[in-house]
Amino acid sequence: MQAKPEIIWLSEVDSTNRYAMNNFDALADGTLVAAEFQTAGKGRQNRTWISPRGENIYASFVMKNLAPPVCNASIIASLGALRMLRQAAPEVKFWIKWPNDICCGLKKIAGILCESKLSAAASGMVAGIGININMPESALDAIDQPATSLAAETGRNSDLQSTVTVLADELRKLYADYSTAPRQVFELWKQENLLIGKTVEIVDAGQRQLQGRIADIGESGEIYFETGGQTLKFYSGDIRIRKESLDGDALFSPRELKK
Ligand code: BTN
Repeated sequence: MQAKPEIIWLSEVDSTNRYAMNNFDALADGTLVAAEFQTAGKGRQNRTWISPRGENIYASFVMKNLAPPVCNASIIASLGALRMLRQAAPEVKFWIKWPNDICCGLKKIAGILCESKLSAAASGMVAGIGININMPESALDAIDQPATSLAAETGRNSDLQSTVTVLADELRKLYADYSTAPRQVFELWKQENLLIGKTVEIVDAGQRQLQGRIADIGESGEIYFETGGQTLKFYSGDIRIRKESLDGDALFSPRELKK
């Protein structure tokens, strides 16, 4: 009989992604591994993910029946994190910044790191999700890019266990929907990507910096980037937003508009 999906709570781990990847065969499909503290939290592009004890969500979702490309996992994970945040703070605007950050205004509140797993017993993906929940402003200021937390946006702290439970429920629903109607879930995800049509800067894998416009996002998660009279396709990269290059203010949070 198949083991039932569960939430595995760890008091401390190097990285929930590493744990999920190393124990992939033994974990049930749809399991969420969550930790109170990560000693070596991993971010995208070999960065470190700051993971203080008991302040934020550090969790990895195990999907044993999800085929490549990796963006399939990113779509499920970023929509799951977005829905969890919206349930916790319906009054706050959150959006997806390609490839898979969740932002509030121009500040990042959540990041996602997906890894694929091929083994004799199973093949699938692990989606690692870090969401800043109760991190205070002083700690956010120490992060090397503009960052925020749910507490900083709402002025109230949230219970970590209940937010993780909501996250697990949303991820499982999206995972099920994606297996039957991937196109519809992709469209929902694309609608939340508010940089489509905006002029931004991209720093690509080779550290090349280009100014241009995100014309569209394709079904493999690639962006179509118009720059210097041509359209380039990127599957990954860091997008930088210049406040003054935005034509509308839909992306700004009320706190940013007041400044
Ligand atoms: C990013 O750089 O934006 C991705 C950050 C992903 C962080 C999460 S925290 C839970 C999981 N375990 C890790 O080591 N990383 C991911």
